[in-house]
Amino acid sequence: MSNNLPKRDSFGSKFGVIAAAAGSAVGLGNIWKFPYITGENGGGAFLIIYLVCIALIGLPIMLSEFSLGRKANLNVFGAFKKLAPGKSWYWSGVLFNTAAFTIMSYYAVVAGWIFAYIPRSISGSLAGQDFSEAFKALNSNTWEPLIWSFIVLGITTFFIYSGIKKGIERYTKILMPLLLILMIILIVRSLTLPNAVDGLEFLFAPEWDKLTPSGVLEALGHAFFSLSLGMGVMMTYGSYIKKSVNLQTMSLQVVIADTMIALMAGIIIFPAVFAYKLAPDSGPGLIFVTLPGVFKEMPGGMIFQTLFFSLLGIAALTSTMSLVEVVVSSITEQLKIARKKAVFLVVGVMALLVIPNSLSYGLLADNKIFGKTVFGLLDFMASNIFLPVGGLLISLFVGWVIKVKNLKSEITNNGKLPFKWHGIYKFIIKYIAPVAIFIILLYATKLLETFGVL
Ligand code: TRP
Repeated sequence: MSNNLPKRDSFGSKFGVIAAAAGSAVGLGNIWKFPYITGENGGGAFLIIYLVCIALIGLPIMLSEFSLGRKANLNVFGAFKKLAPGKSWYWSGVLFNTAAFTIMSYYAVVAGWIFAYIPRSISGSLAGQDFSEAFKALNSNTWEPLIWSFIVLGITTFFIYSGIKKGIERYTKILMPLLLILMIILIVRSLTLPNAVDGLEFLFAPEWDKLTPSGVLEALGHAFFSLSLGMGVMMTYGSYIKKSVNLQTMSLQVVIADTMIALMAGIIIFPAVFAYKLAPDSGPGLIFVTLPGVFKEMPGGMIFQTLFFSLLGIAALTSTMSLVEVVVSSITEQLKIARKKAVFLVVGVMALLVIPNSLSYGLLADNKIFGKTVFGLLDFMASNIFLPVGGLLISLFVGWVIKVKNLKSEITNNGKLPFKWHGIYKFIIKYIAPVAIFIILLYATKLLETFGVL
């Protein structure tokens, strides 16, 4: 190597790359949020719009992130510096890294609650309680949720400590198939409950009159969050992908895997909720309050509840790995710090940031900033501002700065692969994606409401 840096790590196998990228995409967004927002927005109708957003915007941006990352073969800062030398684009790295810290600081808290539910499910201690009270007792407590979040950070550290091939890839290759098996078991259980069809109808039958303009925009916003786009995760992972991998097929596979898992989560949750006549639209409490009600009624319920929270824990961990990796790769390469040291440093800072988020439901519940708790504010800023701005920057960068023609050789592996969708891709990245994202941003920052448009 010319620059005295140690050889860059990379993914070893094609399956490993897909497991890692799909592992990042599949998370709390799919299993908890997707079913609930789909139910609220008219089921099938929302689903169709969401699928259109995924295919039209999500897929081209995913391909852009992968190919930018692989072309540069560097972390997000390095990539922008290398691809647009002398320009200020590398400042995007600041946004991406800030988003990683922000998302991680509350994602680890929710993941912590999920881990807290695993021993409760195994011991059956939840069954005799009021589920809503039990959930409140957990999240308003000072120490218990904090300790669980630290455990989540600890396990994430363990997974990514050893690098890409021996860390992230090695574990996601085991965890992702395990997640799939657990989900299939739960689907069989759910579909064999009485009146399972009602739940499926709720999820799939389009009721167009329930779909609102804000629902359409919510679908677009959720497409970003669910596919882990707009924060440089796929750029960073792209930088570890070998030159022989077909990035077009890969993007398609990751998008399909993410969408399938979201649909499977819906197929697990709704038939069960309907079979026991519970509310499908109970929001954030759906998995912590409504589902324990479902499992309580079900034969062998505690076993299935343990499986469910374990699989959610797995899904959350493969996502937290990717969030930490964006920052770790940035500082190891930009500041030339050894990887292991960098992992501890990053996770240490994240642990500090977790504290106010974890206390947001207890000690700090009354400390509001702009009318929101720390948790609420950071969640809002990350998903509604940082990610859409990140996605906007990526589409503008590809469409207008380095231009699709200069990315073409990366996408086609130097002309070895066909690029059938070239024209459509270019049109979307240059025009459709930036305009659509701009609209989400306006919506998300509530400007449209102020103007009375929504
Ligand atoms: N996509 C994950 C989910 O659905 C969350 C996630 C992981 C994420 N890394 C991200 C979201 C980067 C946005 C950006 O739960």
